Amino acid sequence: MSAEYYPHLINLAYVVAGILFILGLKGLTHPRTAVGGNLLGALAMLLAIVATLLKTKIIEDYTWILIGTGIGTVIGVLFATRIAMTAMPQLVALFNGFGGGASVLVAGAELVKNIRALTLDSNGAEAAATATPNVVADVAIVASGLIGAVTFWGSLVAMGKLQELKMFKKNISLPGQQVFNALLALAALALGVWLVSDPTNMTAYWGLVAVASVLGLTLVLPIGGADMPVVIALLNSYSGLAAASTGFVIDNNVLIIAGSLVGASGLILTQIMCKAMNRSLTNVLFGVLEPGGAAADADEVYAGRVKSTSADEVAMLYESAQRAVIVPGYGLAVAQAQHAVRDLMDVLESRGVEVEFAIHPVAGRMPGHMNVLLAEAEVPYEKLREMDEINSTFPQTDVTLVIGANDVVNPVARTDPSSPIAGMPILDVDKSRTVVVVKRSLSPGFAGIPNPLFAADNCLMYFGDGKQAMLDLVGALKEL
Ligand code: TAP
Repeated sequence: MSAEYYPHLINLAYVVAGILFILGLKGLTHPRTAVGGNLLGALAMLLAIVATLLKTKIIEDYTWILIGTGIGTVIGVLFATRIAMTAMPQLVALFNGFGGGASVLVAGAELVKNIRALTLDSNGAEAAATATPNVVADVAIVASGLIGAVTFWGSLVAMGKLQELKMFKKNISLPGQQVFNALLALAALALGVWLVSDPTNMTAYWGLVAVASVLGLTLVLPIGGADMPVVIALLNSYSGLAAASTGFVIDNNVLIIAGSLVGASGLILTQIMCKAMNRSLTNVLFGVLEPGGAAADADEVYAGRVKSTSADEVAMLYESAQRAVIVPGYGLAVAQAQHAVRDLMDVLESRGVEVEFAIHPVAGRMPGHMNVLLAEAEVPYEKLREMDEINSTFPQTDVTLVIGANDVVNPVARTDPSSPIAGMPILDVDKSRTVVVVKRSLSPGFAGIPNPLFAADNCLMYFGDGKQAMLDLVGALKEL
């Protein structure tokens, strides 16, 4: 084939990959089409990689690419096959971070290449070079370094928080945090301007990366509780923006397209999360929470007020119920109780009880977590009700069963303005006639605070592992 047609074919492959990425994203909007959407996205990425590798005159030696691909494949397969489903959110945070880190390194490598072209002649000698600075590429290098470093370090902290690592449990904030962050952002911008005005200045680039790295840490370290989901969506968006900037750096159209898609969809998700959490983005990023000195003590909240129950007692409650709601949370994922919960729904429906599931937008540890689990157990989609829809029905609900959820049903969000979940809309399960909470102990949820619901008059604690508790309950119901 004539070499003239070649660039057109490469660009055509990029357009096809771009279309497949968009169709893939469309598929991901519904659990039923999500697997297909994921495959389309993977196919698009394969096409983009193959087309890029075939670009003429760019790559002379494939050895290092093959070595990198081999190592990456082994790590990817190990992660995909070994990782527990409950650790998936952390893995996604890590991958976001890797995207940011890759942008920093690619932009740095390109800068080294540009500096050589600007300062050396074709024989490698220091002499009048023929290349001239390219301002667009230099601005893109600054953007890649800045956003990439913030994304990398911010995502590592987010991963630590999702993993509930001890060192990240406390939301650390410095005195004058906002001023400090603003100074860091200004310093990073100043270094960026320095680099664009002197594109041979490697010190400016690594200085920029160092300052942006500290900014990534100081932006995410103080955030926790109800704000975490917003931060995770935002970091996801940043990783796309970093990739798109890198697309400009290395002049690769498909990277610009894919990066922009990730950036835009991440921003939309951030907006959805902000709305669901009743937060403004500026508040999450710059608003440090009031020092939570008044955080209630668990003993004070629970002492002498918690009533525990058993499978037989809960089965008897259901005997006279007409309407029942099931509220899943992170513990459902830990216990892998989704199939057992579906069995409970089937048994209750066979006894004439109306059953619905109440889905909180941040239940679990990633957007759509509960929807994915329940779809896996083939719970009909029409049975899932979003928070706004179902909240008004709790007063008419006879039995609400909360399984492995805690923060998303904590009434403190409505009553204590200094709580880490203050202002977060919650599922108003406490307004049901009876609430049964299935969990293993009185341990707190992600936000680390006690839940007065467990001590409420209309609440019964059914202690145990979520799956075993469901199996026992279904057994008890069948014996009635
Ligand atoms: P959490 O508040 O985290 O509570 C989960 C509860 O599940 C725990 O109290 C735990 O109690 C129980 N549990 C754990 N393993 C269990 C098992 N095997 N069987 C039964 N129960 C078990 O969960 P939630 O209500 O879903 O709230 C989500 C939290 O995560 C929110 O604070 C949210 O802001 C945060 N977050 C969400 C996201 C997204 S995007 N969804 C991202 C980051 C953070 P025991 O140990 O006593 O059993």
